[in-house]
Amino acid sequence: MPRMTKIIAIAALAGAMSFGSSQAAAPAFDPKDAIEYRERIMRTLQEQTAIIGMMASMAVPDSHVKETATTIALSAKMAAKSFEQNVPGGEAKPDVWTKYADFKSRMDAFVVDSQKLADAANKGASLTELTELLVPALPCKDCHDLYRDEKKK
Ligand code: HEC
Repeated sequence: MPRMTKIIAIAALAGAMSFGSSQAAAPAFDPKDAIEYRERIMRTLQEQTAIIGMMASMAVPDSHVKETATTIALSAKMAAKSFEQNVPGGEAKPDVWTKYADFKSRMDAFVVDSQKLADAANKGASLTELTELLVPALPCKDCHDLYRDEKKK
């Protein structure tokens, strides 16, 4: 590679890397995209929660309970991050940001407790043991009652 081309390539790479790290610290999106992004994460949670519910009620085998619980824990982390940008709209009540300390403490508890569920599943806990961890791991309704204005679809 000619020297000049090489310098340009390295500069471009460094630029891309610093862009990447600033994005990781505080993801900033166009407001409409910020809403769509967090709603898609919430829908991921809805599907995975339905699946773990099917396993808990033994409608389907629990052979993928580790993967499901791990996906919920990872999605909870993404959900917590996705509300850092102050973008009222969608079904989010403005209270999310006017009472952000309370909202964040609920999200943080969700992250911690869903991780406990994932850790237990990955250590091979029984379905009975996991069922006990489900209630704190899935505080969906508690938060929605306060912070979500569900639109009738
Ligand atoms: C700490 C608060 C909080 C927790 C915990 C939480 N949610 Fe939400 N959820 C919200 C808010 C706020 C919205 C509205 C987001 C928007 O429309 O911008 C929402 C929206 C949703 C939506 C609608 C998405 C759409 O398509 O518009 C679904 C489905 C959902 N949540 C499922 C879940 C499930 C399942 C869980 C638990 C595993 C959960 N949520 C946990 C706050 C929370």
